[in-house]
Amino acid sequence: MTTAPLTGLFISFEGIDGAGKSTHIGALAAAFKAQGREVTLTREPGGTPLAETLRTLVLNDPMDPLTEALLMFAARRDHLNCVILPALARGEVVLCDRFTDATFAYQGGGRGFDEAVLTQLETMVQATVESNGTQLIQPKLTVWFDLAPEEAAKRLAGARVPDKFESQPLEFFRRVADGYARRLVGEPGRFARIDGGQTQQAVWQDVHAVFVAKGWLA
Ligand code: TYD
Repeated sequence: MTTAPLTGLFISFEGIDGAGKSTHIGALAAAFKAQGREVTLTREPGGTPLAETLRTLVLNDPMDPLTEALLMFAARRDHLNCVILPALARGEVVLCDRFTDATFAYQGGGRGFDEAVLTQLETMVQATVESNGTQLIQPKLTVWFDLAPEEAAKRLAGARVPDKFESQPLEFFRRVADGYARRLVGEPGRFARIDGGQTQQAVWQDVHAVFVAKGWLA
């Protein structure tokens, strides 16, 4: 992939199901808009017609771990090409509900799929040729809502009909959480870990403070 200079701001949001990302992503979008920034609010898997079709399949249909990982990355490729990179080139703030860390956490940690293969796929899908060489497109910041799997399960119980991932046992989510923790250790500078066990208001204060400290919000 060759791209125009990416002047925008790419931010992803991660956490196990039930960790409570959604409200805060919406509030951040409003805060950026209030400062006059254009915001693209999007999600993975999904964000384009093709990727949303793949989302429906991957969240509902049984399939082997390699197929699942390939579909996640196929959806991501389309999403990057059609939505994320164009928005960044226009200088927008891209707030993305999950990105590649979710594949390492869910398919890698949760499913136990080979992380070396995921790394190869990540390189294939996210490499861009820039003036200073080949770069891997990654969020500038990843906000990780870290919540104990037991607590997340309590919050999700009875909330809605669970999809293929949400209906996994507690042990699966322990492995997913460990997968996120490994990604943070691998790239600590990219992550902001938020204690998702606090009240919603306290979580928002922590999230907001991260963006203020970065100089992105007043
Ligand atoms: P989620 O983002 O939680 O959306 P909703 O708020 O509608 O439930 O759901 C997406 C699910 O897909 C979630 O269980 C995590 C899973 N997922 C993966 O397994 N791998 C991935 O690469 C991505 C992006 C998501």
